Amino acid sequence: MTKQLTKQRVLTGITTTGTPHLGNYVGAIRPAIDASRDRNVDSFYFLADYHALIKCQDPQLVRQSTKEIAATWLALGLDTANTTFYRQSDVPEITELTWILTCVTAKGLMNRAHAYKDAVQKNVEAGEDQDFALTMGLFSYPILMAADILMFNAHKVPVGRDQIQHLEMARDIAQRFNHIYGETFALPEAVVDDNVPLLGGLDGRKMSKSYGNTIPLFVSEKELQKLVNKVKTNLLEPGQPKDPGDSTVFQIWQAFATPEQTVYMREQFAAGIGWGQAKKELCALINAEIGAARARYNELMTNAEHIEIVLKQGAEKARGEASALLSKVRRSVGIAPLS
Ligand code: TRP
Repeated sequence: MTKQLTKQRVLTGITTTGTPHLGNYVGAIRPAIDASRDRNVDSFYFLADYHALIKCQDPQLVRQSTKEIAATWLALGLDTANTTFYRQSDVPEITELTWILTCVTAKGLMNRAHAYKDAVQKNVEAGEDQDFALTMGLFSYPILMAADILMFNAHKVPVGRDQIQHLEMARDIAQRFNHIYGETFALPEAVVDDNVPLLGGLDGRKMSKSYGNTIPLFVSEKELQKLVNKVKTNLLEPGQPKDPGDSTVFQIWQAFATPEQTVYMREQFAAGIGWGQAKKELCALINAEIGAARARYNELMTNAEHIEIVLKQGAEKARGEASALLSKVRRSVGIAPLS
């Protein structure tokens, strides 16, 4: 008998509460799409729309963001034949599993979650009741995330630093379930890639929706130039040498450049390239990488039917596995046909 090689399973979720920006692209989307082409990896990518409800109660925004994120990933060439790409809410097994996991999760574990503790801390500082404006969604959210991951027995979960604690919690919850009901779930691991660039935004702080300093990925070429022109620089004139080390323009350049192009721009900085010229060249560089995808994105945004079909196909693939594991889990806990 030949030994069956099991592929490494990688899974990650994208919360649908915003428009993808350049920071999301270089930090998460581009590496994930590259990985989607790797035949040795079995990747699961999903739109975490139930997670969106934790932060956002604007239905229009949740729906629009879901469409934009799906269109972005497809436009950038996500290999949907080699991956499972779906919308969380299309896989109801995940929310069923969430409840079963909720019943083995210690409340004390959730009390320790950073996101919840930060919210409580803010209330205390503001002299409010400690639970002011806090929902059970925010409190229990690590359990929903554990269900996302455990449902598919994912081994590796690429996430940002802020999510490491949630992965530890998912492991804890899996172990607890396995201990009570028998070996069921694989223990997932967080994968934090320190090599992906962290981009600064318009004001030089980390590009982030919460700072309102982002450059959306697929704005028109004209709008892109306008936004890049707003990136904060110092007052050095053309002809004066500039320091690439403290320049957001250079940092963004580097995230899109080949090593040779990075050397080139470093030389231009030393030679005193003007900010206007540097920004013009930066825009051209970004356009060269994403121009074709932008055209596909604009087309997809007018063709929601197509996006829907792709997501439904992904959900079907995902549900095939999810329903098998959920049946097993239900039996394990005593929820099973009586005859
Ligand atoms: N909570 C994650 C974030 O805010 C998104 C997410 C939801 C996720 N479910 C997941 C990431 C499962 C990895 C695995 O970034």
